[in-house]
Amino acid sequence: MPMIIPHSKPSLTLKDHRCLHDIFQTKMIAQHQFVRQFEKNFSTYHSLKDAVALNSGTAALHLALLALDVQQGDEVIIPSYVCTALLNAVHYTQAKPVIVDVLRTDGNICPAAVKQALTSKTKAVIVPHMFGIPADIRPIKNMGVPIIEDCAQALGSEYRDKKIGQFGTISIFSFYATKVITTGEGGMLAANNTKLINRVRDLRDYDNKPTYRVRFNYKLTDLQAKLGLNQFSRLDTFLKKRRAVAKKYDKAFLTLPVERPQIDSAKKHIDYRYIIRVEKKSALLKFLQGKGIQACSPVFRPLHACAQSSACPQTTQLMRTEISLPIYPDLTAKETRHIIQQVVQFYTKER
Ligand SMILES: Cc1ncc(COP(=O)(O)O)c(C=O)c1O
Repeated sequence: MPMIIPHSKPSLTLKDHRCLHDIFQTKMIAQHQFVRQFEKNFSTYHSLKDAVALNSGTAALHLALLALDVQQGDEVIIPSYVCTALLNAVHYTQAKPVIVDVLRTDGNICPAAVKQALTSKTKAVIVPHMFGIPADIRPIKNMGVPIIEDCAQALGSEYRDKKIGQFGTISIFSFYATKVITTGEGGMLAANNTKLINRVRDLRDYDNKPTYRVRFNYKLTDLQAKLGLNQFSRLDTFLKKRRAVAKKYDKAFLTLPVERPQIDSAKKHIDYRYIIRVEKKSALLKFLQGKGIQACSPVFRPLHACAQSSACPQTTQLMRTEISLPIYPDLTAKETRHIIQQVVQFYTKER
């Protein structure tokens, strides 16, 4: 059987399995005590006042925008080099997405481009920390517009010695199956502002409310939260295992003509994605796929292309060159070796 190495894989153990069994015994499988426990553990970890569990990162983005009172006629600034969840969430509110370019150094939103895009209609900026690398959030914070800090890809990373998630007006997280920790699908919203938290808590659930307004069913279940708690307790181990794989890649690719994103010293990144920048992207992807290695583009389609908005040259350049290699806690030493050998082999053939 040829070796097939998926691009992403969740780390699920017998303990995860057993915790689901425990929940079955309680018969309380919808939103209940473990959702609250998960929220508390999450806000404590981030030194934030409170958190609200939701059924996806997209739902968290949507409710973050609504909590900030974003509506038709408002503008929300988002980067081009990110998944369509951000564009969708802005569209759900009927506000106008204003798509800006990213930095060549690390693929994160460009603060100068944000500054240039600000208007009197700007209601919020969504700042994702792409691939586990903290974005330059401080200059954006100084612009005085509410920030939704999108930590979907960067749980556990740090900026200026503080956990990311503490810099925005609101921060959001995702627990989709490919993320750092998973609940299958799931998300979290966290903030220091109790009023914003209460608004989100009210909007996530439509039942038993004293007055009517449009609300949502965005709840996480206790089944998912119990798994989330288990996964969250292993976060450090997950991050260490990811780092060990990244170190092997770093060492092996040192002499190859591949570039890596640049990370400045104020940032303590996590290895959510292992990105390489190469000249022959299509050829290398095809070669690796032929060897059973599911490497891919880190972003499927840039947002300026989805929305047909103005050009984002740095994003276009990153789309042309960047490849994401498999990296996750359960990637075996044999699989890591195979990936390294095949990347090296590609360049040996090239010479
Ligand atoms: C940066 C970023 N934000 C938001 C999301 C949306 O999260 P979800 O898939 O849980 O809706 C994702 C998902 O991949 C993401 O990468």
